[in-house]
Parts: sequence; C-alpha cells; structure tokens
Amino acid sequence: MPTTVLVTGGAGFIGSHTCVELLTHGYDVVVVDDHSNSSPHALERVAKTAGRPVTAAYETDLRDRRALNAVFDAHRVDAVIHFAARKAVGESVQIPVAYYDTNVGGTTALLAAMEQHDVRRLVFSSSCSVYGDATKVPLTEADPVAPTNPYATTKLLCERITGDVCRRLPGLSVLALRYFNPVGAHPSGHLGEDPRGVPNNVMPYLAQVAVGRRDRLRVFGDDYPTPDGTGVRDYIHVMDVAEGHRVALEHLDDEHGMRVFNLGTGTGTSVLELLAAFSAACGREIPHEITGRRPGDVPALVADPGAVARAWGWTTRRDLTDMCRDAWRFQELNPSGYPG
Ligand code: UD1
Repeated sequence: MPTTVLVTGGAGFIGSHTCVELLTHGYDVVVVDDHSNSSPHALERVAKTAGRPVTAAYETDLRDRRALNAVFDAHRVDAVIHFAARKAVGESVQIPVAYYDTNVGGTTALLAAMEQHDVRRLVFSSSCSVYGDATKVPLTEADPVAPTNPYATTKLLCERITGDVCRRLPGLSVLALRYFNPVGAHPSGHLGEDPRGVPNNVMPYLAQVAVGRRDRLRVFGDDYPTPDGTGVRDYIHVMDVAEGHRVALEHLDDEHGMRVFNLGTGTGTSVLELLAAFSAACGREIPHEITGRRPGDVPALVADPGAVARAWGWTTRRDLTDMCRDAWRFQELNPSGYPG
C-alpha cells in the first residue's frame, strides 16, 4: 500500500479534504499547490483537523519542471493524486489557452516527472462534464463523451494522454475519477469551500447568501425538462469524494493500466430542492429569483455509481442533509472564508 502520497492542488477544496482523509488513515502527504485558487491557510486547517501536518508543502506551478523534479528528488513518492487545475467552465470559454496550458501542460509535466522518478501510481481528477449534453440519466462510464466547453475538453484530453502513457509504460496504474458535483465541508467546520471572488457554483453561492454576503440566489432557468424545471445535478459530499480517493489508492494495484470511474451518489437534486434543503439547514428562507438559463448548462447530470461499488465494494455515505449542514457550518464559522 502506498505510504507517501503527492497531492497536487492539495490546498484546494477537494485537495484539502483529501489530505485530511489521508493523514487520518496513516499516509504521509506532500502537497504541491501554486495557490492560484486556494489559500495556504487551508493547510494549517488540515493539520488542525487531522491532528498532524503534511510532510511538506511546495508553492509550485506543475509546469515549472525544475521545481517539480526537485519535489520528486526530495521525497520517495509512492503515489500521486492530481487535483491541480483550473475549473471554471465559463472562464474556460473566455480564456481557453490558459485552460489548455494549465490543465494539459500541468498533467504532461507531472507524467514526465513521474516517469523520470519511477512513480507508477496515479489518481486523476476528472469530471462528469466530459459527458457533455447528456441524453440520458444516470450515466455510466461506457456512455459517450462529448465535452461542450474547453474545461471539459482539457479533462478528457488528460484522460486520453494518461491512457496513451499507460500503453507505453505497462507498470503504470491510473484511476481517473469523474466527479459529479462535490459540495459540503468537513463536519468540524474548519475546512470547506472558499472560492476566490464571486462563486460560480451553486452551493458556495447559497452559503454566501445565507451568511449575508450576497443578497439572493439567482436560479438559472426553470424551464428545463426536469420535474420542477430547474437543473438537476448529482451532488456528492466532499468527504465522500475524499474517502473515494483514499479507497482508490488502495485499489491502484488491482490491475495496471487506465481505469475510469464515476464518483457520484446516483441521486439527482434540482436547484429548488437544494435551496429548500439549505434553507432547512441554516434555519432561514434563502431569498432567490428565477432568471434566464446560464449558457452552457445542461438539464440533468446524474451518475450511475454502480461500477465503483462493484469494483471496490464502496459507496457514498452522506446525503443532501449532511452536505447542506456541513457547508453551512463552515460558512457560519468562517463568514469571510479563510483568513488572509
Ligand atoms: C460545473 C461543471 C463541472 C465542474 C464544476 C466545478 C458542467 C456540466 N459541470 O458544474 O464539471 O466540475 O462546474 O466548477 O460543466 N446554478 C444556479 N445559480 C447559481 C449557480 C448555479 O441556479 O448561481 C445552477 C446551475 O444552473 C446548475 C446547478 O445550479 O443547474 C449546479 O451548477 P454549478 O454548481 O455551477 O455546477 P455545474 O455547472 O453542474
């Protein structure tokens, strides 16, 4: 079983929760993060929450090959979890070159460094957005991929590149996890989602309305072909996502090559249902207004989580009530996010 795990993007939302999960299960963790969309304070919270710190943290862009090689030289890395990437869909349409540069260039630099240092285990952070305009729900890993924006294309490209590398390096084991919609926070309230600027995603936006930082949630469209007309997503608790990565590490050695899995709950929730659940969690009615659709949004994306259950005997454990309660606890305890 791998003992030292290099986590790229370890100070970010999913990365920081995964660091806690790994530290509390006996792994040593080395973090590489350029803090372009994360706070270095998150790692202080990781140490406080896990009861011990990460072994080392480097403020480094993965494309800085010299710096990245120095990290691999300094630590005997058994496995890598690769989160570091740009992730705003709308922004990716505006600045596609930056997205290809960071997401694809960061991944190729990482793969080169891994090969050079004989590291043969990788868990890659992919996305359900690779399925594009899904024509059916729930989605299995065998369903066709058809990205509709540059962000999603970068994730699919990275899967493909990694698959090509697996064919050339037969000892390499890669698990690409296609997350649906990670939300929530660590139940302690010390760790959560703290996006820079105006949140793009619905859950942190809701939390900021609840705490008084924004006046109301704009619901992007109520004329979708869904039960209440608003968009349906498969929200998954970030602690389940973190746990999924820890379990993935335990299954990397099951077989060599590239394997792809959905990480979702299999349950669809509409924006209005999420709004009602969050209002219940924080004990007040969250103001909202219905506005037009957001360009690029799809009606419904829900995972079929069966493949991961069959392969690992693992399923998510937390429901929408847990997600809203924990997201609210983090926001209430940290109304302005992390300090600094
Ligand atoms: C998107 C990407 C996903 C990516 C994630 C993180 C797609 C299909 N999905 O998820 O791959 O990992 O962003 O950046 O590209 N909504 C509102 N009001 C808001 C915000 C959102 O009504 O202020 C609605 C949206 O229309 C949607 C739902 O809430 O129906 C979820 O939106 P969001 O949280 O932004 O996630 P996705 O767009 O599903």
